Amino acid sequence: MSADEAKRQQTINLSAGPSMLPTSVMLEAQKQFVNHDDSGMSMMEMSHRDAGGPVQNALQYAMDATRDLLDVPDGYHVLFCQGGAHGQFAASIQNLVSPGGSVDVIRSGFWADRFINTEAKRLCGNVNIAWSGEDTNYTTLAPASQWNWADDSEMIHMCHNETIHGNEYHYDPILPPGAPVLSADATSTLMSRPVDIANYGLIYASAGKNLGPAGSTLVIVRDDLLGKARDECPSILNYARQAETMPLPSLYNTPPTYNIYMTSQVLKEYVDMGGLEVIERKAIARAGHIYGAIDASNGFYQNSVAADCRSRMNVPFRITGQDGAVNDELEAKFIEEAFKIGIEQLFAHPLFPGLRVTMYNALPDAHVAKTAEFMHQFFERYGQNTSSQNDDTESSYATASQIAMYGALPLVGIAGTVTAGSGLP
Ligand SMILES: Cc1ncc(COP(=O)(O)O)c(C=O)c1O
Repeated sequence: MSADEAKRQQTINLSAGPSMLPTSVMLEAQKQFVNHDDSGMSMMEMSHRDAGGPVQNALQYAMDATRDLLDVPDGYHVLFCQGGAHGQFAASIQNLVSPGGSVDVIRSGFWADRFINTEAKRLCGNVNIAWSGEDTNYTTLAPASQWNWADDSEMIHMCHNETIHGNEYHYDPILPPGAPVLSADATSTLMSRPVDIANYGLIYASAGKNLGPAGSTLVIVRDDLLGKARDECPSILNYARQAETMPLPSLYNTPPTYNIYMTSQVLKEYVDMGGLEVIERKAIARAGHIYGAIDASNGFYQNSVAADCRSRMNVPFRITGQDGAVNDELEAKFIEEAFKIGIEQLFAHPLFPGLRVTMYNALPDAHVAKTAEFMHQFFERYGQNTSSQNDDTESSYATASQIAMYGALPLVGIAGTVTAGSGLP
């Protein structure tokens, strides 16, 4: 193992995005960086106009693997666009909602509000709230049967996973015939579970989480929604323009070629892992270990999201002191002590203080286990004023049903096997 590889293995990168990529993909990229497949050129130095050339092959593979992994039905286009999810907030409206038309929003947290405030209020005649989690401080989500959309609404916007508030839809809402088109911002969860694409008119994800480096945006759009863009829609955001380019879609202008190549390699890794059912099982078990550490702390760690919609990708939490109030000093200490054993990027979003453990697909199981172990140890050192109900067994890191269903994660730390209650400083 190279020194770089060893260093990566010792570093637990919990970044919420741009996030860690699979080490195997990074090493292959490093190997190919200046001389891709003995061409004497880097992938980033080759033209996207070379029909059947390496760039187009990478794009084709990324589209095919997306179709494969998500079982995208016929009648949908898979596009790689630019502008991130913010670009899609505008693109979704400009392609699917007529000028002055109404849109509905499921207010699930920060990112749903971001859609409302950055683009929907500006670009739509009406913004209706079909359901809001504000009353519960975004700790709950509602099924589609509780959504109240307006009769004249042309699109319902939802966020699959609120990266900051830490709530997640683990299923795909089914809307009745005649309902507005469902559009999902799946940025921080796509490729972590199978998705019933047929339930959506549009689904998109900014890369930089489970898809590869930041810079491209995966868009899956139903064909009958193409060709309806408003006149003022910039051509770069017009799905039909992107869909009709030859010989492949997504070649309307110069795409982020190297990012798409990296995404193709990340997706290949997911195919090799056995696909999204396997990845989902891992995600459930991994999240169970972190929530298990929180739930075993008798309120020392606070995450109030309802059990049925806790995010498997992002776990925000606070640390409380003896008085039960959030304790900034303990949180700072948590970050400092975690850093000493290689756990990094634990801070939450700058707008929302606190801590956050992010577990996108590329994070090794052992890194999740070590993080859970550290949380447990930290609670033992600083949370003893609260009398935990749980004992120090492995089962305190995941719910019993999760372990029964998917098996316990081996609690293997970087330095070797660790058992609960032992080892870490
Ligand atoms: C759920 C969600 N939506 C949208 C965005 C914004 O993505 P971008 O910055 O690529 O536009 C993010 C970024 O973290 C996100 O987590």
